[in-house]
Amino acid sequence: MDARITPHDRLAQALAEPLAEVDALIRARMASEHAPRIPEVSDHLIGAGGKRIRPMLTLAAARMNGYMGPYDVHLAATVEFIHTATLLHDDVVDASGQRRGRPTANLLWDNKSSVLVGDYLFARSFQLMVETGSLRVLDILASAAATIAEGEVLQLTAMSDLATSEEVYLKIVRGKTAALFSAATEVGGVIAGAGEDRVQALHRYGDAIGIAFQMVDDLLDWQRDDAAGKNFGDDFRERKMTLPVIRAVAGAQGEEWAFWVRTIGRGAQDEGDLEMAFDLLERRGAIATTRHTALEWAETAKAALDPLPDGELRAMLRDLADYVVVRIR
Ligand code: IPE
Ligand code: IPE
Ligand code: MG
Ligand code: MG
Repeated sequence: MDARITPHDRLAQALAEPLAEVDALIRARMASEHAPRIPEVSDHLIGAGGKRIRPMLTLAAARMNGYMGPYDVHLAATVEFIHTATLLHDDVVDASGQRRGRPTANLLWDNKSSVLVGDYLFARSFQLMVETGSLRVLDILASAAATIAEGEVLQLTAMSDLATSEEVYLKIVRGKTAALFSAATEVGGVIAGAGEDRVQALHRYGDAIGIAFQMVDDLLDWQRDDAAGKNFGDDFRERKMTLPVIRAVAGAQGEEWAFWVRTIGRGAQDEGDLEMAFDLLERRGAIATTRHTALEWAETAKAALDPLPDGELRAMLRDLADYVVVRIR
C-alpha cells in the first residue's frame, strides 16, 4: 500500500462511484435560471473542491449498514450543501479572505452576495432532503442546521472574552462543526434502516470526530504554510478564543497576561503580535496539549464504532479518525 495515500484518499476511492453521483447532483441543484450571480458564486466555491468529508461519512454510514441507494446520495449532497452554505456565511462573519486556496466570495463579490447565495444553498438543501421522504432525516438535518447557527452565534458572543472556558469552547465546537458531522453519519444509518444502537453509535462517532476535526482546524490556523487553503492567523485577528488560546491565557501572568488583554481583549494588534502569540502558545505547551485533546476525541470516535458491522468501511472510518488529527489541510 502506498504510504502517501491517506485514509481520506482511501475512503474517497472506496466511495468513488457514489461520490461522483453526489458531485453531479450538487452541480445540477446549485443551478438557478433566474439569478446568474448564484451559479457564479457557488461555482467559484464548489468548483474549488473541498475535502468532501461529510458526504463521505453519510455514504459510508449508509453502506456499512447494507444500504444500496439511492437516497444516501441525496443525503450526502444535502449535507455538503449545508456545509457550503455555512462556509459562505462563515467567511462573511469571520471576514476571511481565502478559502479552498481561492479568494473568498465575500472578497471577490461582496458580503451581500455571500449571505444571499448561502441562503439559496440552504434552501436547496432542504428541497433535496425532502425528496428522501423520511421525516426522521428531516428532523435530524433541520436540528443540525439550527445547532450550527447557535454554535456560530455563541462563538460571536464569546469572541474576545478572555474568560471563555473550555466548557464554552466545547459547546461552540459541538454546535458549529460537530453537529453537521454527527447528522451526516446519523442520517446515513437512518436511511439504511439500521437499528437504534447503530444509529446512536454513528451519532457518537460523528460528534467525536467533528470535535477532533475542529480542534485541529483551530491548530492549523496557527500554521504558516498554506496547505490549508485558508489564511493563517485569521482566528487571532478575529480575536477567537480557540482551545490553544484558552489554554495559553489560563497560565498567563504579568506581561503575558497584558499581551492577551491588549491583543484579544481590546483588539489592539500590531505587527509581530501574531508571531508573539504563537510563541506564547508554544511556551505554554498549548499547541501540544490541544493536539493531545484532539487525539483523545479521535479515540472516542473510534471506540464509538464498536457496535457497527466489522468490515472495510468501519476500518476506514477508524483510520479517518486518526487521520483528522495529523492532517495538514
Ligand atoms: C471547514 O471545513 C470548516 C470547518 C468546520 C473547520 P472543511 O475543512 O471540511 O472544508 P472543505 O469542505 O474541505 O473546504
Ligand atoms: C467553522 O469554523 C464552522 C463553520 C463553517 C460553521 P471556522 O471559522 O474555524 O472555519 P474556517 O477556519 O473558517 O474554515
Ligand atoms: Mg471561519
Ligand atoms: Mg478555522
